[in-house]
Amino acid sequence: MAAGALGAPPALEWDAVRYELPGGRGAVLRGVAGRARRGRLTVVLGPSGSGKTTLLRALAGTLPRKAGARLRGRRYCAPGPPPIFVPQEASFFSCLTVCETLDLAARLRDPALNAGAAAPWWRALADPKGHGGKEATAVGELLFELGLENCAETLVGGDTGGTEVVGISGGEKRRLSIAMELAGGEVEGRVLILDEPTSGLDAFQADRIVDLLAGLAHDSDCAVLCSLHQPRSASVDRIDDILLLSPGGRVVFEGEVAAALRHFEGLGHSCPSSYNPAEFLVDLVSVDTSSKEAEEASLVRVKELRAAWKHLRRTNTGDSLQSGFATPVRSISPRLRPDGASGARVAVLRTWHQFRLLFGRCVKQTTRDRWTHVARSAASVALALCFGATNYRLGNSQKSIKSRASLMFQTCITTAMMSIVKSLNSFPRERVTVGRELERRGAGGGVGSAGGYGLLPYFLSKLCVETPVEALYPVLFGAVLGPIAGLNRAGRRDFLAVLASQSLAASGIGLSIGALCPTVDTALALGPCVMVLNILLADQSGMFAEIPEAAKPLANLSVIRWGFEGCMAAEMKGLEFTVDATAMPKGVQMPPPGLGEALRSFALKVLDPAHTSTARETAFAEPYCLKRGGQVLEGLGIDPNDGVHRSVEMALKIFAANSAVAFAAMRVQGREDGFKAQMLENCAEPLHAGEGGGGGSGEESAATSDGCAQDTGRGPRAASVEPGTDSGS
Ligand SMILES: Nc1ncnc2c1ncn2[C@@H]1O[C@H](COP(=O)(O)OP(=O)(O)OP(=O)(O)O)[C@@H](O)[C@H]1O
Ligand SMILES: [Mg+2]
Repeated sequence: MAAGALGAPPALEWDAVRYELPGGRGAVLRGVAGRARRGRLTVVLGPSGSGKTTLLRALAGTLPRKAGARLRGRRYCAPGPPPIFVPQEASFFSCLTVCETLDLAARLRDPALNAGAAAPWWRALADPKGHGGKEATAVGELLFELGLENCAETLVGGDTGGTEVVGISGGEKRRLSIAMELAGGEVEGRVLILDEPTSGLDAFQADRIVDLLAGLAHDSDCAVLCSLHQPRSASVDRIDDILLLSPGGRVVFEGEVAAALRHFEGLGHSCPSSYNPAEFLVDLVSVDTSSKEAEEASLVRVKELRAAWKHLRRTNTGDSLQSGFATPVRSISPRLRPDGASGARVAVLRTWHQFRLLFGRCVKQTTRDRWTHVARSAASVALALCFGATNYRLGNSQKSIKSRASLMFQTCITTAMMSIVKSLNSFPRERVTVGRELERRGAGGGVGSAGGYGLLPYFLSKLCVETPVEALYPVLFGAVLGPIAGLNRAGRRDFLAVLASQSLAASGIGLSIGALCPTVDTALALGPCVMVLNILLADQSGMFAEIPEAAKPLANLSVIRWGFEGCMAAEMKGLEFTVDATAMPKGVQMPPPGLGEALRSFALKVLDPAHTSTARETAFAEPYCLKRGGQVLEGLGIDPNDGVHRSVEMALKIFAANSAVAFAAMRVQGREDGFKAQMLENCAEPLHAGEGGGGGSGEESAATSDGCAQDTGRGPRAASVEPGTDSGS
């Protein structure tokens, strides 16, 4: 059964691991100890909520930093690359195929793969369907090993923002997430940590995964540590060691499955021959809440089992905990630094390498999300037609001045709204996937070895690809609207440029709101409020509403304001208006006409109802008329020469400022919430050197009666990592 040597030194070992929730809400893990050996499959078993995920994340170094939470304990990881962690939730970019997803993961992990084989980064623009190829990264082999060869060219699917893409099944996603961690990296001798790799799969698929993991452990001589919910009896035969956790995060047994069954048999709990041993063990430590009596009985049983294990450990391991502790090391990950290259140069090369790959991914994701593009294009054209129909051929009358101004205002609001809604809807979703991928970098400690990437290359690639696409829709809208509404031809190019820049600024605001808000829903709730404020602050001249004097400086932040000013400057460029009586302000009375004039006016109105003003009325209204576009701009306080330029400049500044806010927000969240982890104290040598195999360690020997880890004075101090500090690699 066990392929690895029982007495071999552990690849990963931990002791006195305790995780306390903030606000005195108790501990999730209490003095947990254990080990994972090379060549062996070690499974963490326990009822739901017993702390399996928390333990695995703590060991992998991906336990999210949570204010007030405390992680303590020691971890020894054998020299070499850091552990590979496969989280429970699979999250991918929806519009990449399985093969491309794996290919990218491999290239991110191993820059050498990219050196000769990869296409130049700009090729992704010309060939969004292309990918590096199976041959280049040995991805084909991996696809075969994980049974993904049939769906290699299928889109992964899901919802990364944009439309929901139909893709591979849940089981295939689970296998893909394992494959991603293996892609491009040497597994031999490494530690592989997986959180419930089989949950959500049918029994056959689950068995295949367990088989694969056992095969990996035995054949590649790596230590595989995972949590499983309900392994089938056939799968249990493939498991080498178990770590059984009881509710409250305490160890009840650690060692071989057969030894566990013998141990519990000795305590009066024999596993019936027809029973699945894994289910029997989990049932044994589960609390039955179906009735008060059953609950009390099971609590007593679990307590006894814990006490028995504690006693066994004390008698078996003695003082072995005293040995083997060494000075904590700050980093156990190898540095990706070729000989002779300076740190700064390596960092730049690494960022460039990641940027190239992420740029290609972004191009594929953006160009393949066809339905989003079709829907947005259709919405832009339909809205332009509606606006055009209600403002058909505005002409050059005095009345058209107001019509043009309000059309410009509505246009700005519409294009900005469309951009912001797109960002709000897609970015918070994409952030979840990206957060997990960035987390991979945290888990491994070093880029390249862990397969993650940096926030900067991701963000730059996103901006480079999405910015031009974002500018297309307002241009389409303006191009359709202009001829229908009879907008000024001379300023058409400027008008489109202003709309494009304003739309960019709005999507920048969407990015920053999306990055600051925890969920899509909160972002969608906050976004419209921010937009309404932008609209309120836009009307500087008081044409539509009066802004309080104190709030006027805030208008500089309004994307609608700059959009409106730019559009008006473009629209009024060189425009001339006819003089007519419609410009006459309300309340101004003309002197009564003479009899002849009155009769002439009456006859004109009867013969030509469309005729609005007589020559006398026109002459009287002339002083009130605006004859040139420049006069209109003057009245609005817009510089006719510099209005467009200033509008574009301010929109780009708003875009840049909001992008910077989004970047900073993601960075800070990464530190506090998942991308950056709470770390256990790393020890340079095995924690229990000299101890034989098959028995585990004395997890309670460094713990109080409730399992609380203490500094007993026998070993080194237990690490205590407060939020905001980082003791790990
Ligand atoms: N950050 C947290 N805030 C609040 N409670 C937490 C947090 N992390 C873990 N817990 C609690 O700790 C307990 C253990 O959680 P964990 O996810 O590790 O359990 P699990 O054994 O993996 O469960 P399952 O088998 O259902 O996946 C749960 O009761 C959970 O609610
Ligand atoms: Mg879990």
